[in-house]
Amino acid sequence: MLAELEKLREEAIAAIGAARGTEDIEALRIQYLGRKGRLRDLMALLPQLPPDEKPEAGKRANQVKQAIEAALAADGAAPAKPAPTRPAVDVTVPGTRPRVGTLHPLTQVYDRLVDIFARLGFETAAGPEIEDEYHNFDALNIPPDHPARDGFDTLYIGDDQLLRSHTSPVQVRVMETTPPPIRIIVPGKVFRPDTTDASHFPMFHQLEGLYVDEHVTFADLKAVLTMAMEELLGANTRTRFRPSFFPFTEPSTEVDVSCPFCGGDGCTVCGRSGWVEVLGAGMVDPKVFDHVGYDAEKYTGFAFGIGIDRFAMFSLGVNDIRLFYENDARFLKQF
Ligand code: PHE
Repeated sequence: MLAELEKLREEAIAAIGAARGTEDIEALRIQYLGRKGRLRDLMALLPQLPPDEKPEAGKRANQVKQAIEAALAADGAAPAKPAPTRPAVDVTVPGTRPRVGTLHPLTQVYDRLVDIFARLGFETAAGPEIEDEYHNFDALNIPPDHPARDGFDTLYIGDDQLLRSHTSPVQVRVMETTPPPIRIIVPGKVFRPDTTDASHFPMFHQLEGLYVDEHVTFADLKAVLTMAMEELLGANTRTRFRPSFFPFTEPSTEVDVSCPFCGGDGCTVCGRSGWVEVLGAGMVDPKVFDHVGYDAEKYTGFAFGIGIDRFAMFSLGVNDIRLFYENDARFLKQF
């Protein structure tokens, strides 16, 4: 027994001396001192020794254990617990980036318009997208035989029900319930049975504006719209007011702005004219005031309608309206 212990001690110390690195050392610690190690195997034989040899053998076994421990410790490391074997996390590998969305380009233009008019004192109003003929046409002085009322220009969905073809009926609804003065904008969806192409879509967006008070003049209309266009497209933007006709305004005007892409020199966006048409406007026709019960002798007002999609197209340089409605992330993430 004593000889065996001595042999084990020598062998262990030689092996530890030849070991390279902490992994080897740990393997040796397990091999010699572990619960199923060589020293335990020998000590398991102790009870079988004759009684007079036991104390000496036990003492020697302890000395061998201490000698091996000392050798393991001297060799650098004798970790109490085995090192973790899980593969380490490589912190240099690039992570998975979360994809951050943006507001839809139409929503961005919509929000900017609402913000600009809010600063000019206009409150936002809303109304139904399913309208009746009275609010969409009659109250706006659009006569029964007007071509806009034709089924080719308006989407009817039943007796006296239609999808509003402009946001102007909301003017009527607000005036019906609110005494002057009023200063509102009405952004929203409108519908027309247009054949889809690069500049037409059966649903699009308008932003209507209405200002009614005593002494409102065409000068106010020009001032507000010029300011709004400069704010939206830059201080160098010029505006051009052309005579036009709408049944609900008199006089009426169509408003062009100098092309924001070429500054008025002429390019493909403006069809080489230097101008782009952006809105229709005019002084509210007294017949509309009669319908809503406003005193047309006392009050005057102006109204305007902006095509949000059209506006977004030329201000963002988009040449096909359908792109706004295809929900293609490759297009949308550019804005
Ligand atoms: N409602 C008109 C349209 O849809 C736009 C407009 C609004 C024109 C208000 C003048 C005044 O075309």
